[in-house]
Amino acid sequence: MSNSTPKIEFENVQKVYPPVKKSGEPVEAIGDLSLALEESEIFSIVGPTGCGKSTALNMIAGFEYPSAGALTLDGMPIANPGPDRAVVFQHQSLFPWLTALDNVTLGVKCRGMPKSEYMAKARELLNAVGLSGFEKSYPYQLSGGMQQRVQIARALISSPSVLLMDEPFGALDYQTRLLMQQLLLELWIEFRPTIFFITHDVTEAVFISDRVGVMTQRPGRLKTVADVPIAKPRTIDTLTDSQFTEIEHRVLTSVQEEIGTIGLGASNSDRRTT
Ligand SMILES: Nc1ncnc2c1ncn2[C@@H]1O[C@H](COP(=O)(O)OP(=O)(O)OP(=O)(O)O)[C@@H](O)[C@H]1O
Ligand SMILES: [Mg+2]
Repeated sequence: MSNSTPKIEFENVQKVYPPVKKSGEPVEAIGDLSLALEESEIFSIVGPTGCGKSTALNMIAGFEYPSAGALTLDGMPIANPGPDRAVVFQHQSLFPWLTALDNVTLGVKCRGMPKSEYMAKARELLNAVGLSGFEKSYPYQLSGGMQQRVQIARALISSPSVLLMDEPFGALDYQTRLLMQQLLLELWIEFRPTIFFITHDVTEAVFISDRVGVMTQRPGRLKTVADVPIAKPRTIDTLTDSQFTEIEHRVLTSVQEEIGTIGLGASNSDRRTT
């Protein structure tokens, strides 16, 4: 692979879903998406509900395919899901009848990784996500944040080069979410995956990312992309850094323009910078 080949590239990708009912209309989820992600980049997408964010992620995962245009991974068209791309969703997707350790190891065990290797990796990852001592706990015995930590350990065990995260912290309280964002950056520093991250939280997007893309209303396309040239790891001090709040304000303005709330309450829309 040459250095100039992007890790992931959307070239004029369109996605139209067929009608759900016989009498229904096709849904154009993505109009025309062009975007190139570099190896080890953290890219977040924000945008109105229904604009095609999850559709874009599902196409990288290989769960859905473009209707037109090209989508490549390391320069090759994405044809299938694969262990090189791990997905973390917002909703609980752990098996309730398996312990944290067994949830983390199930996938690689089924794919034939030797037991000595997967046990060592699982313990290392559970330690890295702060869950040492909880290996034998069942999901119902863990908090929401701890369950998301198990999901992340499970995603990382096959050493994926791409981590796809669809509102992974959306169901968590503010404090837990902040801790998870910092944890994600620590894990990124250790493992350097390319991360495609979807969120509705502009502050979260700017905090964790190298770049933040704002999508238009459906059919989605990229409206703006903001660079976040702030060193990682980031801390709670970053949240009040003037460079950070300036970028956050710019992204928030772009999202609000798209949703159409600008003008409804200027004092509200400015709240995050004052
Ligand atoms: N499998 C599907 N079949 C038909 N239509 C679908 C399918 N998946 C998504 N859609 C439609 O495509 C559009 C984009 O959906 P998508 O889930 O990608 O949006 P989103 O940006 O992730 O929204 P949200 O922020 O609410 O999660 C929506 O109109 C949705 O109803
Ligand atoms: Mg979605």
